Amino acid sequence: MLSRFISVALFAFSLVHASPNPQPAEGDVARRAAPVAVKITSAQSLNPVVTFSGTPPLEVLVGQAAAPPGNFGIWERTELSADKYVFQNLGTGQWITINQANNHLVTVNGKANATVFAVESAGGGQFVIKLPNADSVWKALFDGTSPIFGRIIMSPADGTVGERWTFS
Ligand SMILES: *[C@@H]1O[C@H](CO)[C@@H](O)[C@H](O)[C@H]1NC(C)=O
Repeated sequence: MLSRFISVALFAFSLVHASPNPQPAEGDVARRAAPVAVKITSAQSLNPVVTFSGTPPLEVLVGQAAAPPGNFGIWERTELSADKYVFQNLGTGQWITINQANNHLVTVNGKANATVFAVESAGGGQFVIKLPNADSVWKALFDGTSPIFGRIIMSPADGTVGERWTFS
């Protein structure tokens, strides 16, 4: 399943090089705070978090051996209130939410559909990204189905390296 997904993703990547990246319509980005363009990296992996164009919902993946091309590796992080954020991929224009069926991070159209996450310092320039007021954090999951990509699941905090993230 993941390997099929990756081939779709790599095809999508090749399309990006052939056409301009879609940008969100200006009316779609009513903002209380200016978004900041960031790369999100798992403390467990060398490369920024990846998403793909195609038919939503799209898995948000951690790239272990392949850096995402161009804007697919860049997220606009918008602070809605103190330490509460939504994330939009610059390559696809889609927003991060949680697939309730399997607790994986996926992308979806529309800021109104984005999940609001709290970002808390884990020390050393690393962060935990979590649901506000719940013990449920982003966790990179390399389950062996791909040597290149891992998924991101929502998990109770266990203090492991897969639950720490950096922004750059
Ligand atoms: C939110 O997601 C639903 C279902 O995917 C979609 O129909 C709707 O258009 C989205 N909302 C926005 C504002 O894009």
